[in-house]
Amino acid sequence: MNATFEFRHAVTRKPAPSIIDGLRAEDTGAPDLEQMLSDHAAYVSALRSTGAEVLELPPLDTYPDAVFVEDTMLCLPSVAVAMRPGAPSRQGEVAEMSPHLQAFYGEAMAEITTPGTIEGGDILVTGREILVGLSARTNHEGVTQLSDIVREHGHSLRRVDTPEGILHFKTDCGLLDAETILSTTRLAASGCFEGYRVLHVPEGEEAAGNCIRFNGLVIMAAGFPRTAEMLDAHGYEVVQINNSECAKLDGGMSCLSLRF
Ligand code: GLY
Repeated sequence: MNATFEFRHAVTRKPAPSIIDGLRAEDTGAPDLEQMLSDHAAYVSALRSTGAEVLELPPLDTYPDAVFVEDTMLCLPSVAVAMRPGAPSRQGEVAEMSPHLQAFYGEAMAEITTPGTIEGGDILVTGREILVGLSARTNHEGVTQLSDIVREHGHSLRRVDTPEGILHFKTDCGLLDAETILSTTRLAASGCFEGYRVLHVPEGEEAAGNCIRFNGLVIMAAGFPRTAEMLDAHGYEVVQINNSECAKLDGGMSCLSLRF
């Protein structure tokens, strides 16, 4: 089993009516809850179509961004690490998620503590290492703590940079297989993927960079035909999910699940 893209489990959380108050860099309009619920159902169905078991948690109205579960945990084969989001309004989401992960991981849980901050959206686990992008949400202390934790579990961690103005490192990239990364040109230009095979997101389709490889599928946002064609031409089985509402909150395909 390749732990970077072959998964038995995923955890998701349905969006709540409070989603209209979710964080966003730029206001492009209120997300439509009905549309988001329908997109979310399609996303969960795609995960399930691969044979994985998906734990769908109920909406959590107290935390408008709670649908973006990826930011609360890093799930590795031998440990789950509770994150400490850099967005204060999101820190309470972690305690809501921890018991669900504990049911799978038992004692094999660790956590990032103050003054460290780190969000799962800044972490890309590849076949050879764990890349963590410093960002407005993820600080040096958080990365240092995570590095110490994952080293004990046999992983090496490399600190990289998230381009200025980009929410998370993975806003602009996604793993396609253990050695191949889909990346925007602006992110790859930093040299952070040296030694990997990199497929560049076609110019103008940068929002397609945040995709996930989940078992046999590459799940990507709909509406980016040149990226979809490129992935198809490289032999990936692509599933496209409408992301119009999550995009209003700077969210994408990776943000919507924990995968392990
Ligand atoms: N709206 C997702 C986030 O800013 O964390």
